[in-house]
Amino acid sequence: MQAARMIGPDVAPPAMCYYEPLKGSGGKCRACLVKVTAGSEKDPRPMPKLVPACITAVQDGMIVENTVNEQVLETRKGIVEFLLLNHPLDCPVCDQAGECHLQDFSFEHGVSSTRTIEDRNTFEPVDLGDNIKLNMNRCILCYRCVYTADQITDGRVHGVMHRGDHAEISTYIEKAIDNDFSGNVIDVCPVGALTDKTYRFKSRVWFSKPMDAHCECEKCSGNVTLWYRGDEVIRVTGRKNEWGELKEFICNTCRFDRKKTSDWVIEGPTNVARHSVISANKYGANLIRPAFPIAQAARDFKQIDDDRDRSFLTNPASLPAKK
Ligand code: SF4
Ligand code: FES
Repeated sequence: MQAARMIGPDVAPPAMCYYEPLKGSGGKCRACLVKVTAGSEKDPRPMPKLVPACITAVQDGMIVENTVNEQVLETRKGIVEFLLLNHPLDCPVCDQAGECHLQDFSFEHGVSSTRTIEDRNTFEPVDLGDNIKLNMNRCILCYRCVYTADQITDGRVHGVMHRGDHAEISTYIEKAIDNDFSGNVIDVCPVGALTDKTYRFKSRVWFSKPMDAHCECEKCSGNVTLWYRGDEVIRVTGRKNEWGELKEFICNTCRFDRKKTSDWVIEGPTNVARHSVISANKYGANLIRPAFPIAQAARDFKQIDDDRDRSFLTNPASLPAKK
């Protein structure tokens, strides 16, 4: 994965669970499966099965097919379908919409229809302290928040309980909530399962403007992104790199309590590098869309069989009179 990322975003496989700053992450979601057609210079035999790019060591002479291999592309459609088996389609009300890795993944690699008819697993939302809400319905069990809790506390205090269809993030996570850095679980969550209660339902992310800012903080580096709606700071998050990963953890005081512009030294607009709707109308945004998802969307596009009378488009008089 890291080798592909060094080449560039066009060839880097998608990642839903791997998170470079979190030691031990990866190997859970299978979003990054690739075909190794030659193992190494010394042993150029192909690997018999698809392998997860995030936990496979790179070797001299290795040949990896990621964006062109039919087996990989077909498998990714299945992985999206699998991740969406229990995930609610509540993007219109989800705070993560617009910066959700699952949305991007299903847009780029999923199919436009569903075969699911079964009921989805449902859970009641859980309050994790004053500032974090866990909406387990949306969780894809990537374990990122588990590894974050591992890193910010001395002893692991939460994890995934049960297995298979019954697996869920343990509510023991509440015990990690006393930690000054617990809010970082919100930033690492790829979907909208862990949300910031001080920001919930305040705005759609594409209506807000991200600005880099810093402050003198005794607990963390104080380097953050402020999300503005008009003159109001509606959210504070850690700064992320082009892969959507946190550059460093920030403390809860910066995240939840410093919501005034006067608390911060503003550095300037955040460079939004991901091909996300957040870049719309932002300074310095890269508006070039990667060719691969567009080619895939064109391939999957199906003309809707619609034989309704559309003559009113050219002749409004043909519309039935209003009653
Ligand atoms: S709550 Fe979020 S970060 Fe934690 S396992 Fe679920 S999807 Fe991953
Ligand atoms: S990103 Fe590799 S398995 Fe999840």
